[in-house]
Amino acid sequence: MTAPVPTVPELLSRHRAGWSLERPFYTSPEVYEADLQNIWYREWLFAIPAAQLRKTGAFARLKVGAYDIILVRDAKGDINGFHNTCRHRGSVLCKVSSGQVANLVCPYHQWTYGLDGRLLWARDMGEDFDPSGLGLHKVHTRNLCGLIYICLADEAPDFEPFAEMARPYLEVHDLHKAKVATSSSIVENGNWKLVWENNRECYHCSGNHPALCNSFPLDPEVAGVRADGTVSPRLQAHYDRCEAAGAPAQFRIGGYGGQFRFARQPLQDGAVSYTMDAQEAVKRPLGRVKLRDAGTLLKFHYPTTWNHFLPDHSLTFRVLPISPTETEVTTFWLVNEDAQEGVDYDMKRLTEVWIATNDEDREIVEGNQQGINSPVYTPGPYSPEEESGVIQFVDWYVKTLSRAVGDAPAAEAAE
Ligand code: FES
Ligand code: FE
Repeated sequence: MTAPVPTVPELLSRHRAGWSLERPFYTSPEVYEADLQNIWYREWLFAIPAAQLRKTGAFARLKVGAYDIILVRDAKGDINGFHNTCRHRGSVLCKVSSGQVANLVCPYHQWTYGLDGRLLWARDMGEDFDPSGLGLHKVHTRNLCGLIYICLADEAPDFEPFAEMARPYLEVHDLHKAKVATSSSIVENGNWKLVWENNRECYHCSGNHPALCNSFPLDPEVAGVRADGTVSPRLQAHYDRCEAAGAPAQFRIGGYGGQFRFARQPLQDGAVSYTMDAQEAVKRPLGRVKLRDAGTLLKFHYPTTWNHFLPDHSLTFRVLPISPTETEVTTFWLVNEDAQEGVDYDMKRLTEVWIATNDEDREIVEGNQQGINSPVYTPGPYSPEEESGVIQFVDWYVKTLSRAVGDAPAAEAAE
């Protein structure tokens, strides 16, 4: 007789802290649906850098689970979010991933919407037709210092606790003066949580990331968190130096279960950016961080984004789940809007470290998923020294999902 399949609350309640999750968390359609309903459809999600939509009418499309979303810059310069579903009979409006339009015109019967989502025109609908209630369904959006966030919930959680913590760190990087030098999207054949677990430690770096290791230090405290929340004197000295030079740096973590974190971490001695020789990638810097070796401002915000903000350029990464065992990872390379390719930066030099690193991480995550797919897999222990960040991520996940399915405290101090 086969054992009954455990429910999501049962799986959560028997999770052993400090150990990897049970197999269904990485494989089962039921857990995946619970993740979508309770995390992806509720939380604020990083969508795009505002720099991706620099002109009026520029739009980008993205998918979060069952939702298809359009972000579009309107004539006032605001970026609006809409569901990509026509209010007539439901066709998608935008079929391509990005572009520029004067209005949003449905390809089916040409109902035409303004960039603010209002229905402007619909042919032969009769004299009594009232377009006023048939604007596009809106998606909550926020522009945080040039980072566009969306929320799919009817009632979005309060964005301000996160924004308040984020602003001082982000402001000095001037993302509103950025352009997207390039972006890359890859699909990793692994559950979204494996993508995150891999991101939150550098235990794997020395054996897998030769290019990244030219710049990124192997000190576990740089990628992770100390279990007791303290900071080593060496890191504290780095933070103090950065802050004295006007670049907020102090390690701070906040949100329910530690949903987001900021810290300006040092790179390897002598390294200043993510290039093969660890020197600048861009001559005309993005932002006002004057200290060449300020390192990288690390930001994560579960479940969608981790980021590196450097003195010369910025990198933002977006994670989106596609299925229980597929995840899209998109990388945006942001440079000063006045920087010219071929003059101020070389595209290969700018991108090669992270293109290689992303591909190495894809292979790691896919190997991890394949091993977990075997019925013999059982959870294993994380290294408290090397994988404190993974423990922190899994704790956040278990806590957040447990809260949503009614098994954890509803509120917690933000810090
Ligand atoms: Fe969009 Fe008919 S479904 S115009
Ligand atoms: Fe990695």
